Amino acid sequence: MTDDSVIQGTAPAPPTQLGMPQLPAPDYPADVRARLEADAKEVIARYPDSRSALLPLLHLVQSEEGHVTRTGMRFCADVLGLTTAEVTAVATFYTMYRRKPSGDYQVGVCTNTLCAVMGGDAIFEELKEHLGVGNNETTDDGKVTLEHIECNAACDFAPVVMVNWEFFDNQTPESAKRMVDDLRAGRTVEPTRGASLCTFKETARILAGFPDERAGAVDESGGAGPASLVGLRLAKGEVLPARVVHPRGEAPQDAAPAEHPSSHDAPQQTSASDPDHPAGPAAEEGE
Ligand code: FES
Repeated sequence: MTDDSVIQGTAPAPPTQLGMPQLPAPDYPADVRARLEADAKEVIARYPDSRSALLPLLHLVQSEEGHVTRTGMRFCADVLGLTTAEVTAVATFYTMYRRKPSGDYQVGVCTNTLCAVMGGDAIFEELKEHLGVGNNETTDDGKVTLEHIECNAACDFAPVVMVNWEFFDNQTPESAKRMVDDLRAGRTVEPTRGASLCTFKETARILAGFPDERAGAVDESGGAGPASLVGLRLAKGEVLPARVVHPRGEAPQDAAPAEHPSSHDAPQQTSASDPDHPAGPAAEEGE
């Protein structure tokens, strides 16, 4: 057997790092494992096939340590009869599972299209600078993890910021900075709607399917906003005011043309229709 490094007088190349978790992972302490096993049994009993309980169990182990650790993935594999590779594949696919230690409050700024153009991009940039962290990074005090998130189906309240998956609607860079300052200072912060804030670990346990103990949590679960309900009201035959949204900082325009049920249906000024548009009126095809 030959050793090329010896023959050529060079050091052996370091092994390739594939970024895969080192397994087997250490187990939980006995008391923690016993407690989690009792919880897992309750979750698994809800499904006809035990492997269907993987998603809530990943939330359960996330509620224990604040993120999904190798130990947590080993636990899920053990109790569900899966391989750690199968569990890892799922845990690394969904962004709601965190892969590294993070803050008590996960502040997600929606930078999907509508929120982005309504100010989400500006909020995200200013929060990065204000907190001194980048995307998916945590402040030094361990309080806030900042990340940009995709659409949270709350576009009529754009731009939206989520804290531990509770809604903060119609945010501005200033309101978002005040909010994270309050979170870091331990002051009470209330979402725009829905239940009161709890920590990320507590949120993870609720997502695992355990009762939400927050006062009024079910009643305050929120609902669709007025803009979301416009279509429903139209379908019911209701005649709506012509304009349902208005530019920020301006008063609602009540006296809009009656023939258009909402601003979205009204003809828009474009370069084709507006002689003052920088691009000028477009010529009709064939002119
Ligand atoms: S684009 Fe932000 S909630 Fe839909």
